[in-house]
Amino acid sequence: MQLIDGKATAEAIKKEIREEVEQMRREGKRVPHLAAVLVGNDGASETYVNNKIKTCHDIGFESSLLRFDASMTEDELLAEVEKLNDNDEVDGFIVQLPLPKHIDVLKVTEAILPEKDVDGFHPINIGRMTQQVPCYIPATPKGIMQLLERYKIPTAGKHCVVIGRSNIVGTPMSVLLSRNTYPGNCTVTLCHSKTENMAEITRQADIIVAAIGQPFFLKGDMVKEGAVVIDVGMTRIPSDKTKTGYRLVGDVDFESVAPKCSYITPVPGGVGPMTIIGLVQNTLLSAKKVVYASTRNEVRS
Ligand code: GUN
Repeated sequence: MQLIDGKATAEAIKKEIREEVEQMRREGKRVPHLAAVLVGNDGASETYVNNKIKTCHDIGFESSLLRFDASMTEDELLAEVEKLNDNDEVDGFIVQLPLPKHIDVLKVTEAILPEKDVDGFHPINIGRMTQQVPCYIPATPKGIMQLLERYKIPTAGKHCVVIGRSNIVGTPMSVLLSRNTYPGNCTVTLCHSKTENMAEITRQADIIVAAIGQPFFLKGDMVKEGAVVIDVGMTRIPSDKTKTGYRLVGDVDFESVAPKCSYITPVPGGVGPMTIIGLVQNTLLSAKKVVYASTRNEVRS
């Protein structure tokens, strides 16, 4: 069994990006600028957003954190999105999810200009992804694809079982792994909370991506010998052994699953650090106008 070290991979990529940003600065170019919108004070969201901002600082990006009270109205949030769309100093921005219940997530996502949608959640970016047209690929799947690539994990013809069908991870992951490229060319099965005989299906998998949000969901008896297991879970559970009073656990019961795997990602230190890498890479692409070469008006017309 080999551990897939997301932390070390993320650090190596951060170094590459930092060097590229330094070069941009030396050439007198504006450095990439990522903005993050945080509504309310959900503890986990706050940690994720702070980590994104800290990473920007580490690699030399500009960053802005816009914080709003949970009582903010949908119209007020849409007005903030519009301001960011119009701000030429901002290359890309994200609205951290989940949002308070009174705000329509799809409405907000669709209000973000696709060329600044570095989360890759806008239906235009999702559509472009399915057509293999240049786009922003959602950060977590993008990070996972790079782990598969950097660890040279064979994917062509393999049976990949994705557990979870969220817009953020499961659904884009299933699309990316079935595309005709590397990593990809898998035979993909997408399982979810209504799937019958889940264990029978996961036992057939060469690659499992567990993204169902249920701690320790995947057990050793659900995995075949030699499988590659990618754990996307990040649930906080109470712990009296940490200063914060909680610890992060994945969707995989590492103890029973790891001995059967050829490769496995740990939690923490697996997929998590690579998610932020996916986001800053998208922001860099935006600053370099690689995905959408056209201006705002051309994209809209
Ligand atoms: N909430 C959980 N993951 C994400 C993410 O990748 N982007 C945003 N905007 N919110 C999230």
